Amino acid sequence: MHSSDASKISNNTSAMHQYIEENKIAIPESKRLPLDTQKADQYLKTIFDYTETAYLLLDQKLIILAFNLRAEKWIYQVYGKKMEKGRCIIDIVPKSRTEMIKGDYEKALQGKHLNYESNFPGPFGRQIWYNFQLSPVMSEQNKVLGLVVAISDITKRKNAEIEKEKLGEALKASHLGLKKLVAHVQSAKEEERLHIAREVHDELGQLLTTTKIELSMINKKLSHLGEGSYIQDELFHVIELINKSIKSVKKIATDLRPEMLDELGLLESIRWQIEEFTNNKGVVCKLSVSPEFESLTHDINLSTTMYRIVQEALTNIARHAQATQVNIVIKTSIDNIFMVIQDNGIGISEEAKNKKNSFGLTGLRERVMLLNGIIDFTSRVGEGTVVYVQIPYMI
Ligand SMILES: Nc1ncnc2c1ncn2[C@@H]1O[C@H](COP(=O)(O)OP(=O)(O)O)[C@@H](O)[C@H]1O
Ligand SMILES: [Mg+2]
Repeated sequence: MHSSDASKISNNTSAMHQYIEENKIAIPESKRLPLDTQKADQYLKTIFDYTETAYLLLDQKLIILAFNLRAEKWIYQVYGKKMEKGRCIIDIVPKSRTEMIKGDYEKALQGKHLNYESNFPGPFGRQIWYNFQLSPVMSEQNKVLGLVVAISDITKRKNAEIEKEKLGEALKASHLGLKKLVAHVQSAKEEERLHIAREVHDELGQLLTTTKIELSMINKKLSHLGEGSYIQDELFHVIELINKSIKSVKKIATDLRPEMLDELGLLESIRWQIEEFTNNKGVVCKLSVSPEFESLTHDINLSTTMYRIVQEALTNIARHAQATQVNIVIKTSIDNIFMVIQDNGIGISEEAKNKKNSFGLTGLRERVMLLNGIIDFTSRVGEGTVVYVQIPYMI
């Protein structure tokens, strides 16, 4: 303490005394503690004996100098020995533990503060955990005079920790199980889609094409009626409708399962999607892809995920955003692929983002999670929406 600090305190104390004097403030007799040193020692011993922690004071030779009641009970309970002043602590501890204990005590005698946990067999096969603290007692010349050993029962805390750890592991396992289930559901969904896409494309597409050919033949047979006849006009109209249906079937099949992913690869498929989107919805969409991404080869899981993200994002923009401009950027870093899809529409509200039945966004979250990636939808009302995707990849 600085001498100036000390003088400040003594000044304050005398000021307080002066205040008490001047204002004739009397401190009631009952509120004063008796200043009896003998009693104070007694009090201290009582505190020392009734604390929850077992304390021992040892000299440099590990001879017991003092201990509290708790320590006496502890030694008896754990080692079945009687604690005695003047005995070496090593003689009380069973042989199996002496080596370890000697090492720890030696370190503490070199001036180190030690804190460790250890378990002992308790009743009914339970484990009892204790925390041990060894604190060196130093002389004014910084020499180690002895040790204070503090032992406290930490079984409750330790059991809680063990329970928490077990719970954490169970949670991790169930999370992993859930992830596997989602992966299974996703791949089952893709397979089912592939199946339906083939059925729709091959069966329905084939039927429509045959019908168109038949109708064209009938139309030819009716050529004698001359151009502009009512029946021929009607037939022509029906053939047009069938042409539209064939296109629609193709689109449904491609939406269900982008076979082109296998044939054209991811980027061409995305370009095709964007072209369709701009042609059908009249919204300008720009795509910018870094050369590093162009030169990457992608596995089918990554390709499908990225394709589906673009598909869902563009569908959402067409359905909800009222946007006039969309930008898609795809880039890579050493170990991540980034995709950003930005529109200048009305933005997504927080409630819309977390809507219970918003299966589009939920589906995207699940797909990205399966690839250990991140997806985020940032939006300010009136300022459009940004879909940010980050997916790790290994070269
Ligand atoms: N780009 C966007 N701009 C504005 N709102 C959007 C956009 N994307 C999604 N939303 C909002 O988020 C909601 C959830 O989207 P989604 O899960 O795809 O469900 P759905 O499209 O079937 O309604 C949408 O209903 C819509 O209100
Ligand atoms: Mg949607």
